[in-house]
Amino acid sequence: MQTILHSINAFNEAKQVIPGGVNSPVRAFGSVGGTPRFIKEGRGAYIVDEDNNSYIDFVQSYGPLILGHSDSLVVQAVQDSVAKGLSYGAPTELETNLAKEIISVCEGVEKIRFVNSGTEATMSAIRLARAFSGKDDIIKFEGCYHGHSDSLLVKSGSGLATFGETSSKGVIQDIAKHTLVARYNDLDSVKECIRLSGNVGCIIIEPIAGNMGLVPSKKDFLQGLRELCDKENIVLIIDEVMSGFRASLQGSYAFYGVKGDLSTYGKVIGGGMPLAAFGGRADIMDMLSPIGGVYQAGTLSGNPVAVSAGLATLALIKQDVGLYERLESLANRLAEGLMSAAKTYNIPLQTCVRGSMMGFFFAQEEVIDWNSAAKSDTEFYAKFHAKMLEKGVNFAPSQFETSFMCKPFNETIIDEVIEKARASFKELKA
Ligand SMILES: Cc1ncc(COP(=O)(O)O)c(C=O)c1O
Repeated sequence: MQTILHSINAFNEAKQVIPGGVNSPVRAFGSVGGTPRFIKEGRGAYIVDEDNNSYIDFVQSYGPLILGHSDSLVVQAVQDSVAKGLSYGAPTELETNLAKEIISVCEGVEKIRFVNSGTEATMSAIRLARAFSGKDDIIKFEGCYHGHSDSLLVKSGSGLATFGETSSKGVIQDIAKHTLVARYNDLDSVKECIRLSGNVGCIIIEPIAGNMGLVPSKKDFLQGLRELCDKENIVLIIDEVMSGFRASLQGSYAFYGVKGDLSTYGKVIGGGMPLAAFGGRADIMDMLSPIGGVYQAGTLSGNPVAVSAGLATLALIKQDVGLYERLESLANRLAEGLMSAAKTYNIPLQTCVRGSMMGFFFAQEEVIDWNSAAKSDTEFYAKFHAKMLEKGVNFAPSQFETSFMCKPFNETIIDEVIEKARASFKELKA
């Protein structure tokens, strides 16, 4: 029997001083119930909580840790960098090296700037896109998440393809009204938004959405979006904060062959440290200060410790030929195993794999957008999540997240998870 007394006490104590006891809402287990585990360390495929319970970890810090927890070479690179100083507020050659690394593999990225979080990357990319296009309105897609800047905390108004409404208190309607919300995988809804506004300068999309569960774009949809943006002089921002260096070395490009005018990166490029970036066409990027008039800055931007973690991570990924194929095959093995176990107990399940990303929904029908994702059985997910946690498997505490494979995973680990899922389904159906 698992003891989680330490986590229970730690959570109660945290709630006295941190709103909800957490520094990012999903960690509070609000949508699955129960007590979030307080983690004291991570090694490879596993995390260990303060009560010494160990879990196979499919969260991997919500994506960054493609090499698993505490990869020894990444840790070494960080330690070496720390020994030379934490931050200088001056340029380093490390930043140029990381910029070159990313530019060498990411199609359409000619210049890049580093920031500290995905939120900053998308926020800055949108400011730049507005300046370049000279148009105020932007389009985002229902179910896509791009961080928590005001323009992007917007949901669809009454009916789709409308001017947005705020999805957070404190975001004023005057800002939300400049964000139109279209339906994912539905080009007509995008056309309708463009028509309605008459002033759309930018479209931002997760090409492989991972924030409503895993829902990839359809190929003709993403390609159609590219053509539409070209036709209408709209800046297309491909948000690869999650899918970049995750779905494949080239992110979504390997699946769709679609380039953004701007692209945003985060998670894997920082190897677990706070690092993100936005980049793209040189003529757009050169509008940034200090060359151009679009202001953007950061005290810790391009921080040497984070950049060193990123450089080490990308070098290790590149060296490991076949890494993405191996992780994809493990993701497929997990998806097939879960499907077969669910079938035994008559549990409706949909699965999806893109490279090292795997998603599953307790739903009857294929999930192609937020509408269909929202039909999944979140109560059953909560029960499944709790059962798996008791058995030492950490899936994300929400139906609408993605599971991430990492380098230290192997077939034995995946098969163990499938057996535990089978046992959980049996208990839940008993
Ligand atoms: C696609 C995407 N864009 C942007 C963000 C925001 O990144 P951050 O949490 O680093 O601010 C996320 C975070 O999950 C994301 O998945």
